[in-house]
Amino acid sequence: MTKIFITRIIPDPGLVLIKEHFPHFDLWTPDLPPSRIELIEQSRGVDGLLCLLTDKIDGEVMDAIGPQLKVISSMSVGVDHIDIAAATARGIPVGNTPGVLTDATADQAFALMLSAARRIPEAERFLRAGKWVTWQPSLLLGADFAGATLGIVGFGRIGQAVAKRAQGFDMRVIYHDPTHGAQSVDLDTLLRESDFVSIHVPLTEKTKHLVNAKFLAKMKPNAVLVNTSRGGVLDQTALYHALKSNQIFAAALDVTDPEPLPTDSPLLELENCIIVPHLGSASKKTRDMMSLLAAQNLVAGLKGERLPHCVNPQVYE
Ligand code: GLV
Repeated sequence: MTKIFITRIIPDPGLVLIKEHFPHFDLWTPDLPPSRIELIEQSRGVDGLLCLLTDKIDGEVMDAIGPQLKVISSMSVGVDHIDIAAATARGIPVGNTPGVLTDATADQAFALMLSAARRIPEAERFLRAGKWVTWQPSLLLGADFAGATLGIVGFGRIGQAVAKRAQGFDMRVIYHDPTHGAQSVDLDTLLRESDFVSIHVPLTEKTKHLVNAKFLAKMKPNAVLVNTSRGGVLDQTALYHALKSNQIFAAALDVTDPEPLPTDSPLLELENCIIVPHLGSASKKTRDMMSLLAAQNLVAGLKGERLPHCVNPQVYE
């Protein structure tokens, strides 16, 4: 019998599809992810693993699962939590969920950009603290979008969807993509000219701490930084100093390193830093589609078919 482990309760569409093809599977039902030991115990001997971005899947885990493992399917577009080289070396296809979360993530980037520029969370804290005494000409002033320059770092599907939204706001868009080598301007020019900088690169060796003290020092003092990619792309200590000293105007983060962000993180002391708990793809429709795609990848892999969305197609060569 085909053995499957699913590391968390995922939205119904995926579970329904899996059940149609494989009525028996093991599902991790607690709210918190399995620990590494629990993951290994639960997935030992399975043919298919459906995981989330909270599960670290390295070569050791793959070996502990065993040589019968036919597919690893992640309900995420990012796959930095999986050792892709290790999977490829073992001939295991890895699936992800691209495309379906592009709009939701671009919406989130824009929501964060607007919130940081117009100081929405800070203004709400102000109001709830009973500090709203009158309309004031200079109260909580923020930044304009029309005519501003948006610099997009990472110009894949999500970066391009952000650019499309920016056009509706009458912004000038420039971009630089370190992963694909595509650019309208080099990174230094982008940082020098942008009033908003939005990060859309995957986390790799090359992009780890791409946003560091040097990067931040090149940004404009009025600039707003938004990160909806991965926390590891940004050096949080460097960001703290840049925000604290008003070297840049504000930052808005959908992702942190680590996740969850410890509640004593110095970033949480800053008025000009917005942080939300990794919600880029968090719309009902998007999560349903991600669940379905992850299930399609899992089922295809278990049937020996090519995964509809495979991040290491070299395994088929
Ligand atoms: C979310 O961050 C994803 O990679 O899907």
